[in-house]
Amino acid sequence: MELIYSLTEINYISKKISKQLNNQIVLFKGPMGSGKTTLIKSICKYLNFNDNISSPTFSLVNTYENSTNNIIYHFDLFRIKNLEEALDIGIEEYLDSGNKCFIEWPEIINELLDFKCTTIEMSVVDDNKRRIKIN
Ligand SMILES: Nc1ncnc2c1ncn2[C@@H]1O[C@H](COP(=O)(O)OP(=O)(O)O)[C@@H](O)[C@H]1O
Ligand SMILES: [Mg+2]
Repeated sequence: MELIYSLTEINYISKKISKQLNNQIVLFKGPMGSGKTTLIKSICKYLNFNDNISSPTFSLVNTYENSTNNIIYHFDLFRIKNLEEALDIGIEEYLDSGNKCFIEWPEIINELLDFKCTTIEMSVVDDNKRRIKIN
């Protein structure tokens, strides 16, 4: 599936994408500014999961929780330099937790991703539009 969307359409797009996220692990690939964080936040909001800003490792992993205490983990691995650093933050426990994991910049943990993953590729079309491809 391939879509081009502007920010005004993000709620509709989040709803549409939410229906495609059957795998536990979802990888968000694409350059800086392609809209990965914005889309993840919007999807979590659509699914009624709220940001938990109290985590000490907030910049690397952000935990979202719904009213029945289900959890979504949102990772931004941009600043992680190698696999060992990812293992140090306990990435394997998160991946094995059974909770949904949305991962920006997943390339550094490629060798851990023996799970069946959904990959979302994002790119910039112009200032007001982003392209998204789901495998
Ligand atoms: N579909 C879109 N259309 C236009 N601008 C967007 C869209 N999605 C995100 N943006 C804007 O692009 C910028 C970067 O978004 P962000 O989600 O931080 O990207 P990334 O996480 O991929 O680096 C933000 O200013 C955001 O508002
Ligand atoms: Mg981001």
